Amino acid sequence: MPKKIPLLDSAHGYDLAAPYYDAKEKFLDSFEKGKILPTLGDLTGQRVLDVGAGTGRLSLQLLKLGATVTALDISAQMLSKISKKNNKIQTILADAESLPFPNNHFDLVTAAFLIVHLKDPAVFFTEVHRVLKDKGQFLVTNINQRKPPEVKTKYGPILIESYYHRPEQIRGILEALAFTVEKEIIVRTREEQSPASARVGAPGAGWINQILLASK
Ligand SMILES: C[S@@+](CC[C@H](N)C(=O)[O-])C[C@H]1O[C@@H](n2cnc3c(N)ncnc32)[C@H](O)[C@@H]1O
Repeated sequence: MPKKIPLLDSAHGYDLAAPYYDAKEKFLDSFEKGKILPTLGDLTGQRVLDVGAGTGRLSLQLLKLGATVTALDISAQMLSKISKKNNKIQTILADAESLPFPNNHFDLVTAAFLIVHLKDPAVFFTEVHRVLKDKGQFLVTNINQRKPPEVKTKYGPILIESYYHRPEQIRGILEALAFTVEKEIIVRTREEQSPASARVGAPGAGWINQILLASK
């Protein structure tokens, strides 16, 4: 009988996956097609929180754009990779659903490839709304992933708890929480789509990622 692959929560799963995570950087980038940073512009002097920061794939870019960056994650092993790469990034071990910051604190909150691990993104979004300054911005991505992929660890492959969220559901939660959606980018497998298949969720639409920029 084939061995059952263990399913772990994010904290334990990503602690085990951390040594291998950076090898997937180009694969993760391919879901964004370079569309995130141009959306953010110059971040000089901005106080930015990167939630589910992982090993710093996005945090390091935010730093280069001039931001003061705090990277938060539920996995200590993922965060320790960031500290080794750049000690200017403050790292915080915490849960996205209970952010350890005062109200109205950040100019920008980012979350790439995080909400796929959250059962109810509304809990996290409510926290983001609270810690953002008025008119602060929230950049969130939503990968089209119906089943958790196998992840490499030294003990063999594991699965990490994941949840599928439809793009209109994510947009709806943001709007219900009084965010204004400023920009929505749907990243597709192919750029050129016929109008009929361009609609998200249409058969053959081929969407792989949703990138949303919202403001408080
Ligand atoms: C797929 S990785 C993305 C990392 C990074 N944002 C990137 O784009 O490369 C997901 C990250 O979210 C973190 N994570 C999952 N659930 C979390 C939670 N409830 N609170 C904080 N971080 C969480 C994981 O530990 C992991 O580092």
